[in-house]
Amino acid sequence: MEYRSDATFEKPSIFREGVRDYAERSSTPVSAELVDIAEKTTKSAPEWADISTAPVQVTFLQMLISTGRMNRVLEVGTFTGHGTVAMAAALPDDGEILTVDSYVTDPRAQEVATQSFALSAHGHKIKPVLDDALSGLRNVEGDFDLIFLDADKPNYITYFETILARNLLRPRGLLVVDNTMWGGEVLNPRTLPPAEEATTGEEWMERMFANWAHDVVKFNKHIAEDPRVRAALLTVHDGMTLVQLAS
Ligand SMILES: C[S@@+](CC[C@H](N)C(=O)[O-])C[C@H]1O[C@@H](n2cnc3c(N)ncnc32)[C@H](O)[C@@H]1O
Repeated sequence: MEYRSDATFEKPSIFREGVRDYAERSSTPVSAELVDIAEKTTKSAPEWADISTAPVQVTFLQMLISTGRMNRVLEVGTFTGHGTVAMAAALPDDGEILTVDSYVTDPRAQEVATQSFALSAHGHKIKPVLDDALSGLRNVEGDFDLIFLDADKPNYITYFETILARNLLRPRGLLVVDNTMWGGEVLNPRTLPPAEEATTGEEWMERMFANWAHDVVKFNKHIAEDPRVRAALLTVHDGMTLVQLAS
């Protein structure tokens, strides 16, 4: 084929209806135990099931862990343990994953997580920490090969600064931050009245979702401009930013 020199090309955006589903369908299916956790999540906390990590994300996290021959992982935000069990499975037998949650979102999630850890062949690698995220980050010991940050977005900058101040990430380790595209709201954040003043659950959710976009935008700017790290925001699922200490 001959390439024309008078042709111009502007790559179209991949972002259109169905992209997420297509990505899921075109990735290797996750293990039966992860499918089981996802089903239990939908059954026990249907209103919140969507905040669980997606299959394509956990497969990606597993690849990071195995490629980096990682041994020690910290997860901030356990929920029902979908990501925890997936990451545990990618760790070697003597590896460990500490996972922090206070279950502020939904206490029913703890039951699913506890049951899933007990049933999993990788359960011995999982150390659940029932605590507030900041308190957990202030109290965990040692450094980690991978930290998966997936809790409340208004505190992302505080969590990031605590991770750096306490040297929780080993050199060349990876901090993976979830939801950094926040459903696309980061492109044009709206300001709604405080969620606390909402009269219905639906209104509360709409306000919380809209207002948190400002926090995600602040966080994204904070790390993109921070010379101590290098960051790449990947448009996987809801946006996952990979952060490494600048060497
Ligand atoms: C998006 S979910 C985590 C999803 C999980 N990583 C997965 O793989 O499915 C967020 C979790 O963070 C927890 N969380 C939110 N704010 C928190 C805080 N301040 N301290 C501790 N946990 C918190 C919530 O209880 C919720 O279970």
